[in-house]
Amino acid sequence: MPSAIRKIIVLATGGTIAGTAARCDDHTGYAAAQLDVAQLLAAVPALQGVPLEAEQLAQVDSRDMSPALWQRLASCCAQQLARDDVAGVVVTHGTDTLEETAYFLHRVLAPAKPLVLTAAMRPATALLADGPQNLLDAVTLARWPGAAGVCVVMAGSVFGAADVRKMHTQRPDAFTAGDAGSLARVLQGSVQRWRPWPSGTPLGLRCIEQDPATWPRIEIVLNHAGADGRVVEALRAVGVEGIVAAGTGNGTLSAPLTAALQRARQAGIHVLRSTRCAAGPVLATPFDDGFESAGEMTAVQARVELLLQLLAASA
Ligand code: SIN
Repeated sequence: MPSAIRKIIVLATGGTIAGTAARCDDHTGYAAAQLDVAQLLAAVPALQGVPLEAEQLAQVDSRDMSPALWQRLASCCAQQLARDDVAGVVVTHGTDTLEETAYFLHRVLAPAKPLVLTAAMRPATALLADGPQNLLDAVTLARWPGAAGVCVVMAGSVFGAADVRKMHTQRPDAFTAGDAGSLARVLQGSVQRWRPWPSGTPLGLRCIEQDPATWPRIEIVLNHAGADGRVVEALRAVGVEGIVAAGTGNGTLSAPLTAALQRARQAGIHVLRSTRCAAGPVLATPFDDGFESAGEMTAVQARVELLLQLLAASA
């Protein structure tokens, strides 16, 4: 049973979970980030009596998630999690960049208490809105004895921040965790866990304290038929400091793209090799061209990783 004593902090940042449409059958022509956190909580009668504090941290469509907002969110989460009277924190977010924010918070904070992100694929006005149940499940997880680390809860499944990825553009169960699979599930107010909660050594807030306007520029370059590498030259011209190469299959890159990335690396630009495939690791091969592998990370997670490594190196 969840503990009734300590509080849960709900931090709202916008997204479809707070979105509204003119018609209840409209799942696409809606505006994200319209309802405030009090309205989100009011839609979940089962939360009445649960000790909660809520804060509207931002109100954005998560396609516009920014380094400045990440910095503020991480610092607010850390502050709330440090309170003795707080059991855990829930963050409501858009689905589109959820996996990036989850990974960012995991690497910066790796908290011992649960930090649970949730979202919705349908706006709050939909006939079968998924947001209220997801929010209830997220609070249930955040209150669950022993729960820890940065997790994402969607459609009853709990994913670790390092594994989670958005796999579908429309379905309410749009998220998976690749080969790692889900960590746990939330069913009827109860949590069943299969694997350990996410943990790790946090980089700490100090790593991200510099002005976000000065954070290193990291871009993702995709390999594809006809990739000629000229995009790498263009990125060098605008001062990119790191490139994630989202290769084909096991991270393979065309000959001209390989050459352009090698030139970039010789010029001091950090290159991390990832894959454009939806799942699976990038493994070393005998034909290696020396680019470091992003392992199991998706290209967008690898981008966050490279950003944080460069920030940590200069902190
Ligand atoms: C967003 O990411 O903010 C909009 C889309 C969504 O939440 O599903």
